[in-house]
Amino acid sequence: MVLKQMVLLSKNKFFVITLLLSGTVLLTRCNSNKESETKETSTTDTATCSSKKINPNGDSELALLMRKMIQSSASLKELVKQGKLPDKFPEEFLKIHTAKPTDSDTKKASFDGFATNYLDNLNTFYHSPKEELTKNYNAVINSCVSCHSEHCPGPIKAIKKLSITQY
Ligand code: HEC
Repeated sequence: MVLKQMVLLSKNKFFVITLLLSGTVLLTRCNSNKESETKETSTTDTATCSSKKINPNGDSELALLMRKMIQSSASLKELVKQGKLPDKFPEEFLKIHTAKPTDSDTKKASFDGFATNYLDNLNTFYHSPKEELTKNYNAVINSCVSCHSEHCPGPIKAIKKLSITQY
């Protein structure tokens, strides 16, 4: 009898702990840039959009590509602010269409349209005259935000920080 109660109690405890844990996971994964070790001003804090804590297969191809994209954007921002022209169009970003996401249902029907829009803007940016660099750069960032508002709202705040304010 006592034993049975203890088992029940420990089961309960386990349940509560699981609840608490999954709550934390949900909070940290769905909300934008929490990563405590990254500073407020950091442009590379990567909030994820999946509600699963750890993807059993490791980071998805798309998530890894996105991380390269946000890093590349951060360096481009510095370049543009210095008035310098970007180097070569990053061919690897064309893989956005085919790269596998963490959850197979992440890519909704509108994904490819957003992806094409992003790549078009990126192409325009890489071929832009000096005086249109800032404008075209911001258009790229806006196309990241457009797709994210429908597919993965988590990182939006971090992405928006990459815009260049013009005054
Ligand atoms: C066509 C839609 C689309 C566009 C355009 C897009 N993203 Fe994403 N992004 C996604 C999706 C979907 C994920 C989730 C990937 C996953 O979980 O597998 C994601 C994930 C991310 C992540 C989180 C990666 C991680 O560590 O899990 C960051 C950061 C990110 N994107 C930044 C950007 C930036 C910066 C741009 C523009 C330069 C951009 N994205 C453009 C759809 C898009």
